Amino acid sequence: MMRELSIIEDGAMLVRDGSIERVGPRSEIEPIIKADYDVVDAGWRVVMPGFVDAHTHPVFAGTRVDEYELRALGATYQEIAARGGGIRSTVRHTRAATLESLVKESRRYSQWFLRNGTTTVEAKSGYGLTVEDELKILRAVKQLNEETPLRYVPTFLGAHEIPEEYSERREDYIALVIEEMLPRVAKEKLAEYADVFCEIGVFTIEESRRILTGARELGLGLRLHADQLSLSGGARLAAELGAVTADHLEHTDADGIAALLSSGIQPVLLPCSVYALGHTRYPAAREMIDSGLAVVLATDFNPGSSPTPSILMALSLASTHMKMTPAESITAATINAAYSLGRGDFVGSLEAGKRADFVIHDCSDYREVAYFFGVEHPLAVFIDGREVFRRSSSA
Ligand code: NIG
Ligand code: FE
Repeated sequence: MMRELSIIEDGAMLVRDGSIERVGPRSEIEPIIKADYDVVDAGWRVVMPGFVDAHTHPVFAGTRVDEYELRALGATYQEIAARGGGIRSTVRHTRAATLESLVKESRRYSQWFLRNGTTTVEAKSGYGLTVEDELKILRAVKQLNEETPLRYVPTFLGAHEIPEEYSERREDYIALVIEEMLPRVAKEKLAEYADVFCEIGVFTIEESRRILTGARELGLGLRLHADQLSLSGGARLAAELGAVTADHLEHTDADGIAALLSSGIQPVLLPCSVYALGHTRYPAAREMIDSGLAVVLATDFNPGSSPTPSILMALSLASTHMKMTPAESITAATINAAYSLGRGDFVGSLEAGKRADFVIHDCSDYREVAYFFGVEHPLAVFIDGREVFRRSSSA
């Protein structure tokens, strides 16, 4: 079913008060257009739902261009992290930043998402790692959601790394996450989901289980960074806990895929981070789709392992390295992603009753969106029926 896009060849859409009232053949819509309606002519181009990017880390201070350079010279992501760089380096900068400056830096990324055709993003905290700094990031997400046209869905990721000052007493940090951070986040309704970076050298299966169980008791949905750099059993843990998604999954084996299937968990695949880390092992998307899983594609936008807001790049990598067809990739980055964020009835497809979040891509065959890579295809982007981005020129 991921290959069925329900394309209307000569289509039109009627939008009222920001939501889609009707969608169908132009011959049916055109006669009901009144003189005072605003008409947007897509000029025989592809019109698609705005992309839903269901895994991003978009609020952080500074960049990691210095580490990028070191990696070009041969250092690995894990070596840099072991030396106090990596996530911990972004944590130092993010702690030093004010809420205002974080919002200011992140507005730039918000604009990047929009110009790539993304209209909803899931946004994780995880670069604060103190009660106040994690809340600061989630408040920045809230402010960005209110101030920018982009829709943000907040996820608490206090268990992204053990902060430096807790390196000799990790139990105390885990207690802080469970006993102080999670209750504050839930009480202030600053996140809909909780996530843990479950990985060798970061959080163990047992620690991840405790943190996520605590989150679940507070009513948060669960997502999980699972089996990214090694087969640590994250997919099976996600299944055991009834998570909504298991993300990354580069090392997940057949047993892990079967576990996801039996618990109805959506895999969120992040090929841009595989690419940007210079790795060669992509997740087994073909097996996952063929087994019946509702696969999601996302960017993993973050300053370390995936510095790109381009879901278009993820679509390209999905075809070239993961053997997904363009139609499957588009489904994965729109409707499947929307369902993974609890917004399947709200966005992710162009259907009556949903919000009018749509993109006019500068092409007439939808497959070009995944095929020509390194091109920003969107000519214009609409959220709630309002134009939020338009490229200044087109051929
Ligand atoms: O999804 N895996 C953990 N977190 C991020 C990396 C974050 C960073 O390097 O800053 C990821 O790849
Ligand atoms: Fe991530």
